[in-house]
Amino acid sequence: MFQPMYRPRRLRANENIRRMVRETKLSPDDFIYPLFVTHGKGVKKEISSMPGNFQQSIENIVKDCEEVQGLGIPAVLLFGIPEHKDEVGSEAYSDEGIVQHAIKAIKNKLPELIVITDVCLCEYTSHGHCGVIKNNTVQNDATLELLAKEALSHARAGADMVAPSDMMDGRVGAIRHTLDSEGFSDTPIMSYAAKYASSFYGPFREAAESTPQFGDRRSYQMDAPNSREALREVALDVDEGADIVMVKPALAYLDIIYQVKQQFNLPVAAYNVSGEFSMIKAAAKLGWIDGERAMMESLIAMKRAGADIILTYFAKEAAVLLNK
Ligand code: PBG
Repeated sequence: MFQPMYRPRRLRANENIRRMVRETKLSPDDFIYPLFVTHGKGVKKEISSMPGNFQQSIENIVKDCEEVQGLGIPAVLLFGIPEHKDEVGSEAYSDEGIVQHAIKAIKNKLPELIVITDVCLCEYTSHGHCGVIKNNTVQNDATLELLAKEALSHARAGADMVAPSDMMDGRVGAIRHTLDSEGFSDTPIMSYAAKYASSFYGPFREAAESTPQFGDRRSYQMDAPNSREALREVALDVDEGADIVMVKPALAYLDIIYQVKQQFNLPVAAYNVSGEFSMIKAAAKLGWIDGERAMMESLIAMKRAGADIILTYFAKEAAVLLNK
């Protein structure tokens, strides 16, 4: 009878030996936790499609941030829900905007926590697109000015890092130029470098109230079948001054994460988006999968593919397990 010489099972016999040969490890250090800040007082409104995630007013956001810091998670990502939307997303770059106020409140209480802001117009525009509209199309260069103003007002409010998610051409360069000329040359940019037009953003649009009122985002976000184009997008952002490059979504784009990690020497972030979170939550609720195991398995997959940083709604839950 044939007897194998090398038996991989020897190194799988028990948990301790598996721990010894484990190639990839997760840590709370890897995570960024997204938060949705809204006007008002005492607001904590659960997002129905994202159980455990809330639209919260500033004092509740600060409490949540204390919990995040206590769990050893180094950073949060802020999304704002404005009081009024208009054609040009004015509240996005108002120094009195909701995100600007939230940054100050968080940094005041928790100076060490890294506060990153999502820089985009879609939550703030009445039409829900990520840029200004003329003749029913999103205007690239006119949008750049507003994005740069938004990033600057976040930096002025005390943001530690800005993260443009709009996918306009040239926005990293425009933001870098403005930040540098206004005295914020030390503020890093994490660019949503390869961001695909994805159905997996569905639950987020409920959370951020940012569904486009006409058309879709396919004229600016990337087309799913393309991978070489993702490398061109990343190269552009690197040239324009990005400090961290992100691939988004994560699970259906692990090949992109892998390629970006192989080809570029910057830290790579993966955005484990709302739909990826909600699918696991929904299936677990139905008893169809083990939610905790599916969460850890998908997070480790992103890390194994090459992500140095993972933006995830699972950050707190996963950190609790990892801290045990
Ligand atoms: C804003 C933005 C979106 C997400 C992050 N920033 C939505 C979109 O592009 O439609 C998605 C995040 C998620 O689904 O978790 N441009």
